[in-house]
Amino acid sequence: MCGIFGYIGKNNAKEKLIEGLENLEYRGYDSSGVAIVQNGQVHIVKKAGKVCVLKDELMDSDINGNCGIAHTRWATHGLPTQLNAHPHTDSKNTLCLVHNGIIENYLELKSEYNLTTKTQSDTEIIAELISKIDEKKNLDKIKKACNLLKGSYALAVIFKDEPETIYLAKKESPIMVALGNDGVYISSDANAFKKYANNFYILKNNEFAKISNNNIEFYNKNKKINKKTNNIEKTFSFENKNKYLMQDEIMQTPDALKETALYFDNFKNIKHYFDNVDKIYLIGCGTAYHSCLLGKKYLEFLNVPIFTEIASEFRYSKIKPSKNSLCIFVSQSGETADTIACVKKCKCKTLAITNVPNSSITFNCKKTILMKAGWERAVASTKAYCCQLLVFYLIKCLLKNEKPKWKQLVSSCRKYLKKNNIKDISKKVLNFEKIMFIGRQEDYVTAMESSLKLKEISYINCIACPSGELKHGTLALVDENTLVILISTKHSLHNKNLLSKQEIEARMGCCFVASNIADSKIELPNLSSDLLPILSILPFQLLACEVCISKGYNPDKPRNLSKSVTVE
Ligand code: AGP
Ligand code: GLU
Repeated sequence: MCGIFGYIGKNNAKEKLIEGLENLEYRGYDSSGVAIVQNGQVHIVKKAGKVCVLKDELMDSDINGNCGIAHTRWATHGLPTQLNAHPHTDSKNTLCLVHNGIIENYLELKSEYNLTTKTQSDTEIIAELISKIDEKKNLDKIKKACNLLKGSYALAVIFKDEPETIYLAKKESPIMVALGNDGVYISSDANAFKKYANNFYILKNNEFAKISNNNIEFYNKNKKINKKTNNIEKTFSFENKNKYLMQDEIMQTPDALKETALYFDNFKNIKHYFDNVDKIYLIGCGTAYHSCLLGKKYLEFLNVPIFTEIASEFRYSKIKPSKNSLCIFVSQSGETADTIACVKKCKCKTLAITNVPNSSITFNCKKTILMKAGWERAVASTKAYCCQLLVFYLIKCLLKNEKPKWKQLVSSCRKYLKKNNIKDISKKVLNFEKIMFIGRQEDYVTAMESSLKLKEISYINCIACPSGELKHGTLALVDENTLVILISTKHSLHNKNLLSKQEIEARMGCCFVASNIADSKIELPNLSSDLLPILSILPFQLLACEVCISKGYNPDKPRNLSKSVTVE
């Protein structure tokens, strides 16, 4: 969701900015724009739609300069039109800026300061406010304006009277700066620095930066400050082998699992964090929430109450975890707004499980377990989900003093990805109007995640239901156009599950069984019962991807969704 990229240095900014925006595209956006300084003049180009449209116009233009800012917008206020795209300017045309986030009090500010606007975006108010403020130094104008803003922002600003300088401001939305060989780079996502620099600076809330060619100064509200650099993760980059990132990312699962298991050794001290804990909360959104549901199964042996919470709900719930609680937040991106809001609410032990070092969640949680799934760019989370489950399994082994069997997991994963029957199954799935995933216990969680995966990229209306709940309502949906995929991995429940199959077939529905127990239509990886929940999703990630591609859609960028949901 939304992205900022900036460059000031020796080279032509327009190529850098477009490359930067292309690297941010995976996050999802609806329009884009750049501001480039040429001979002291600021040129703005913005477009609704894809970055390639902006690229075509910009590359054909005579705009050339060494300093610029760029944006991919994910509209929160106002339609995704060219007019509402960033950069925005003030009415006197003294500055332009790009913004990630939401200004919650923009209407109040508009009437209080009598501001007029030409667009519907809340961002334009920031430009008007900054330009209205009577201060000599541009940095002070920004500081004063930021004091009035409520909500979240990462800002990059260029002033007409200081055109070779980019100012940054940050509250809640991420923004970072890296010094490369040929200039200074700015980005809202550290992944976009990989090609240009080895380390980078992260702005914290209420910090500012003033950037000119090869010079970066940082400030807080009161004074100039020094900042330490952070390393850019390059150790685990993957090359693209398939047409789509999602295909690549599923195929990277064995390596991602292996790296995550090896890296977990750095977090063994976490064992003591569980001492004297009397309640555990597992909190996340979407796929990460499903990880929490399986995480609960892995931690149930602790015999303390464990609650699984959807972050967007929990942030508004009356329940506040007591001081002896441990709250575990799962987030691939580490930037999900609802999950971060929950972290802030929980004044107890807090532990993040994330794939992104230096993400907002790592700053807000007291402890972090970092996964090594590698950069996940496809909107549908795949390898990161398996790694999240692996982390819960590794925590369980650590707390129980058991030797983890992750090598078995990795080899079974490799084998399954080399040979499975999902291509054939996907052709059959295409014949049905309605799809239902059912299962019990861990398999029900896999059913929920399978259903999410399929609907989010193939737009098929599908649901998940606990097998035992069918006859309490959902069975009414079953007819000859319905395919029910029954996941059954528990020996003790297999016969019960087969009864559900009978119920479905008696209503003319079609039922495919996915099992490792007996001969089944959909093969599952071959693993022991404690490891299988980590990989029983694999067939359905592959299935969702196959079905999506057969329907002619791009699995990496499903409609209406974005990779990282950084606003509420
Ligand atoms: C996964 O396929 C989804 N795109 C989505 O549910 C995602 O898992 C959710 O938005 C949470 O993201 P996070 O893990 O980055 O916090
Ligand atoms: N709220 C701003 C807008 O709607 C910024 C959205 C974004 O973060 O891209 O223009």
